[in-house]
Amino acid sequence: MSSLLRSSIATRSCRTSSNALCLRRSTLLLERSTRRRHSPSALPPPISFAFDIDGVLIRGEEPIPAARKALSILDGDNEWGMKIPYILLTNGGGVGEEERCRRLSKQLGVQIPVDRYIQAHTIIRSIASKYADHPVLVLGGRNDVLRKVAENYGFKHVYNSLDVLAWNPSVWPFHDLTPEEKASIKGADFSKLKIAGIFVFHDPRNWALDVQVMCDVILSGGTIGAGHATSSSPVDVVFCNPDLIWRSDFPVPRFGQGAFRDAFQAVYKSMTGMTCNYTQYGKPTEATYTFAEAALKDLLLARHESRQPSVYMVGDNPESDIAGANAAGWKSILVHTGVYDPRQGQPKHVPNHQAKDVAEAVQWALGQEMRGQRA
Ligand code: G3P
Ligand code: MG
Repeated sequence: MSSLLRSSIATRSCRTSSNALCLRRSTLLLERSTRRRHSPSALPPPISFAFDIDGVLIRGEEPIPAARKALSILDGDNEWGMKIPYILLTNGGGVGEEERCRRLSKQLGVQIPVDRYIQAHTIIRSIASKYADHPVLVLGGRNDVLRKVAENYGFKHVYNSLDVLAWNPSVWPFHDLTPEEKASIKGADFSKLKIAGIFVFHDPRNWALDVQVMCDVILSGGTIGAGHATSSSPVDVVFCNPDLIWRSDFPVPRFGQGAFRDAFQAVYKSMTGMTCNYTQYGKPTEATYTFAEAALKDLLLARHESRQPSVYMVGDNPESDIAGANAAGWKSILVHTGVYDPRQGQPKHVPNHQAKDVAEAVQWALGQEMRGQRA
């Protein structure tokens, strides 16, 4: 507040009363509120959050009841009346970031801006330029939804396993394309294309077809049907989510993209005796946590927040959320609303704290930082 504004408030309040005492009192009042405004406890502690989604904020399509409370605390419903920075960091995906934020905002009843949302394949945007002019295979998700997402990241020649099956149904004779799938096809002659990279963005809908097509592409050096690899440059293989299991609205965790990767590797090993080399993104990888930290920093910069905040990761999966946060030097909180069940005993990756749900996690973290601030 400018000194000009400060002195005008003081003068204005004294016009009504008769002497120096009144002036002194209002100046004192002003000083106290200024001291309070600039004293540490007037500002929220330097804290920020990264929230996992499945098993923390939602299960399947259903919001977890504590989610709205947790996010409203951070959106200003707190003793400081101030917004506390947070991002959503999920191994989920399957649609574009904008589309997912639209859906989440509706499910959670809280506006989720896209610059606060990171999903499993968002990081691929940072490497797309390397493959921009080469044919690539993008797997997972429904029909060709992820083709458009990949084109949005900068890939120009994006194909999927349904395109391959439409080109030659004998690639996998056990699936007839549905009318919806047929409508999503991009025609190509794969005997004339050299696929440079395979990107598994999200959980494949047809594991068998995708395992077959991945092996065909890799073992032929990129040209399906060309028989065993002749070319020197192997096909790059990238997986975006290592989760073996995740928590949906089914009472017991479901297989995730990591289970698909292991199934593919098992078949590939039976074929070649070897494991297929690949790049892994998604939590707990260092690449994804570094990417998320940069996004948090941008958020703080945009808020002119110069203090170095503690980052609290709130997650339901010890293997991805807690392992990654611990390795990144963040604080980690494991909630009991998702994959991890406390009856299983101590988790393999030990969090800084366990909480029954995300609201309790937020309150515990704020309490920690406030105590730290007072000390
Ligand atoms: O497919 C998504 C799943 O693997 C986990 O998502 O939000 O718990 O990281 P999330
Ligand atoms: Mg989760």
